[in-house]
Amino acid sequence: MKIFLDTANLGEIREAARWGILSGVTTNPTLIAREEGAGFEETIRAIAEMVDGPISAETVSQDADGMVAEGVEYAAWHPNVIVKVPSTLAGIEAVSRLARRGIRCNVTLVFNPNQALLAALAGAFVVSPFIGRLEDISHDGMELIREIAAVFELDPDIETRILSASIRHPRHIVESALAGAHIATCPFGVLRQCMRHPLTDSGNAAFLADWRARQESDPPDQDE
Ligand code: E4P
Repeated sequence: MKIFLDTANLGEIREAARWGILSGVTTNPTLIAREEGAGFEETIRAIAEMVDGPISAETVSQDADGMVAEGVEYAAWHPNVIVKVPSTLAGIEAVSRLARRGIRCNVTLVFNPNQALLAALAGAFVVSPFIGRLEDISHDGMELIREIAAVFELDPDIETRILSASIRHPRHIVESALAGAHIATCPFGVLRQCMRHPLTDSGNAAFLADWRARQESDPPDQDE
């Protein structure tokens, strides 16, 4: 299971990149719009400088011609840019056309296994099932990942990776891995939460206290 960061915030990306566990970044128009200052291209180029892995940049056109034009432009920004298109018929056509030009695509907003299958057949590099948004409407996000993984497994020609998206909490990451996802793209806060455990905090505090107590009680060495 690889971990991507789901943000356009350069500060978050810089910090998470230092941890040494990041394999890529996903953005979307909402995440880009949330950040003030830098423009879209500038942001994507800056991310690509910080993280050596796939960086998803999403199209906003609603027709295939527009998506292809945007995709060709984005792909020229950096070799690691992945063109993100919505899971629509226009999106599938755009993926087919972009894939023929050697441009990798992330088909996003996947909510059923057929969307994932058609995206894979069109040549998508990754498909992004949105787990959290499905659970928001009381559907089983993990079952979607399991079904996509099972369908992909049946066809040896499918190399498309499953990227679990709309992750809301750390359990989603491990559940996605067990359900067959290859990648989880996580908000910064969820990644930070992954390393939190009260027993780690209390154990660490106790080790430190015991160490200091021993140092304070030891008589100073005669030779010093
Ligand atoms: C994935 O690429 C999307 O950017 C993201 O996971 C959307 O998640 P949300 O439901 O938290 O907006």
